[in-house]
Amino acid sequence: MKTFNIALIPGDGIGPEVVAEGVKVLKAIEKLDSSISFTFTMFPWGCEYYIDNGKMMDDDGIDKLKTFDAIYLGAVGYPGVPDHISLWDLLLRIRKEFDQYVNLRPVTLLNQSLTPLKSKMEKDIDFLVIRENSEGEYAGAGERLFKGNQEEVVLQTGVFTRKGTERIIRYAYEEASKSNRTLTSISKGNALNYSMVFWDEVFDEIGKEYPDVKTYSYLVDAASLYFVTDPKKFEVVVTSNLFGDILTDLGAALTGGLGLATGANINPEKDFPSMFEPVHGSAPDIAGKGIANPIAAIWSVSQMLDFFGEKEWGEAVLSCIKDMLKETMQLTPDLGGSASTGEVGDRFVELLNEYADTEIFTN
Ligand SMILES: NC(=O)c1ccc[n+]([C@@H]2O[C@H](COP(=O)([O-])OP(=O)(O)OC[C@H]3O[C@@H](n4cnc5c(N)ncnc54)[C@H](O)[C@@H]3O)[C@@H](O)[C@H]2O)c1
Repeated sequence: MKTFNIALIPGDGIGPEVVAEGVKVLKAIEKLDSSISFTFTMFPWGCEYYIDNGKMMDDDGIDKLKTFDAIYLGAVGYPGVPDHISLWDLLLRIRKEFDQYVNLRPVTLLNQSLTPLKSKMEKDIDFLVIRENSEGEYAGAGERLFKGNQEEVVLQTGVFTRKGTERIIRYAYEEASKSNRTLTSISKGNALNYSMVFWDEVFDEIGKEYPDVKTYSYLVDAASLYFVTDPKKFEVVVTSNLFGDILTDLGAALTGGLGLATGANINPEKDFPSMFEPVHGSAPDIAGKGIANPIAAIWSVSQMLDFFGEKEWGEAVLSCIKDMLKETMQLTPDLGGSASTGEVGDRFVELLNEYADTEIFTN
């Protein structure tokens, strides 16, 4: 029996609503597969916790999380707590302290009806964005001088270390090489004449170790255009923290919206737990209404299962998401349906049970 210990940080707004559905899926898998079990430990951290305690997480929160196999996070941020506090003191703190330097964000069209792009099909939009997740533009380095004065100066410094840049680019080459896909680097060397010139150089240097990988390199402005006009160009993409953040929201728009976009924050060496979360935020505009789409959070479960080495279950979850989108029986309003968050989760579990009966898990 394999046991995976999962720390739950449902967080704010719709976070708890969607995480509940992801947990429902994991519990269903546990029932279907006697060789796997999960433990769940809930941490009530987030903006409500901040309002009561003046901090986003316990002082020893990082120590508490260290022993888990994975962290499953909903969303953080809520009106009343400045976004830079909620983000930096919880989400970014975990990513940095646990050296989760790889952010894996699939841009995959699971059903043709979901894309706003005319005549694009599933095969046209299917790529993986590997975003640098530990430094770059989100290094938190800078200064604010003479606040409020006419002479005010604000510096936000991008930090690109050789170690940080090499390891993310090497990770991307490895991924492209083992999956036999092309690799595209997205940067901005013409305007960012230090950081992105360096990025481009490292991309070329590491590329010499992977002569089998066909590469492309685009400026981020051109790449944004190609995301829309010719997404088929992309197979594996590697880019910096800021560019990856923005481009993957564009990717989400091309594949069905934020209710479907997932992201895994990985520490590949497994020195620390990795964290799985939907890309979306806490959506205060719909929080508490029971209409949040839980599919992004359920897709995060698929990524988590892949990371645990339970690839068949990871695929099973993804396949059931596709079935759900195809049958359109139980979908939330963002996808044109009228189902509640819980009804989507319940239907998903039914489909997973059917899948397990008919596919691989007939033991
Ligand atoms: N990873 C995170 O925790 C994260 C990411 C982004 C934003 N935030 C925080 O979330 C708060 C709200 O930010 P925002 O409004 O810019 O972004 P958001 O992602 O919360 O919402 C943007 C829009 O998408 C919709 N949406 C998002 N997720 C949805 C879902 N699962 N189902 C249906 N509709 C969904 C929302 O209703 C809203 O109209 C802010 O405090 C922000 O800092 C957190």
